[in-house]
Amino acid sequence: MEYHIQFTPEVPALLLLDQRFLPSREEFFTCRTVQDVVYALQEMVVRGAPAIGVTAGFGCVLAAHEVAGTEDWHARLDELLTSLAAARPTAVNLAWAVLRMRSVWRTLALPSLETLTATWLAEALAMQAEDVAINRRMGAHGAALIADGDTVMTHCNAGALATAGFGTALGVIYAAVEAGKKVHVIANETRPFLQGARLTAFELHKHGVPVTIACDNACALLMHQGRVNKVVVGADRIAANGDAANKIGTFGVALLAKHFGIPFYIAAPLSTIDRSTATGADIPIEQRTPREVTHVGETCITPEGVPVFNFAFDVTPASLIAGIITEKGVVPANQQAIAELFVE
Ligand code: MRU
Repeated sequence: MEYHIQFTPEVPALLLLDQRFLPSREEFFTCRTVQDVVYALQEMVVRGAPAIGVTAGFGCVLAAHEVAGTEDWHARLDELLTSLAAARPTAVNLAWAVLRMRSVWRTLALPSLETLTATWLAEALAMQAEDVAINRRMGAHGAALIADGDTVMTHCNAGALATAGFGTALGVIYAAVEAGKKVHVIANETRPFLQGARLTAFELHKHGVPVTIACDNACALLMHQGRVNKVVVGADRIAANGDAANKIGTFGVALLAKHFGIPFYIAAPLSTIDRSTATGADIPIEQRTPREVTHVGETCITPEGVPVFNFAFDVTPASLIAGIITEKGVVPANQQAIAELFVE
């Protein structure tokens, strides 16, 4: 599914496989402006931390095109980049990608807009290709943790669709399957946006990996019945001490895994580790519209006027994490091991 984020420089436009409609239909959403990209990020046309980062990289290229002909293009471009970086708060890959583009801009030292645009396009394409390569390395490290015949539970979608391709948590599964292991996946449905039921099930099924969908609230029962050997999930931001933010419900899965003695792993690239965030308590948690909870399609399923909690993420404390699977290897979730990942 390495086709789901495509940039056509000659238009220029960013084409995103619209994840709101999967698995019913495969339709592309076209972004021509930064406003379109911000909309696509906020409405979850594209979602998943690394995919958000790659999208933002191409968003910067669109921003450079957008300011062409503007008198004070530097100031306008700066504003557009700020609005891109702020589209969603929790996944640090978004701010990380925009920061990377900003630092390219800085190192060029007063470039023409044409030079900046061309350099940014090359950088965004490199980011996209790097992400797939990183996921493959992560997959190889993580696959060693998976035994032949394992059933692995995952929560949300940390697959090809959530990255530039191959996936983080699902990359581990794909790599284990490629290595000849039989793996069965339990995809938690992941209320309210149903990334597990719609997206994880869609891509695993498409790749021929056996998958069973479970209601989020079946987790304790399934673990109690001995149906789960490991849990592997992605992350949106990992703090310096190893606490990890991921889709709402992940914390509960990790607590249950601890109770039942099941190893719980996080698979994430270094770009998801935010060493400027000391602990999980400092990670901003996105709150989304109540409508995602109150409605199924166009139908309201809750009594009118009753308030709703719709936190999109929660934070799993490092103490519940058996290991963080990265492109540099599997490390314990603690401050020192995380710091060592960044030593050249
Ligand atoms: O709200 P979403 O769908 O963007 O949340 C995505 C997740 O929580 C993923 O598990 C995480 O970004 C890792 S994706 C490789």
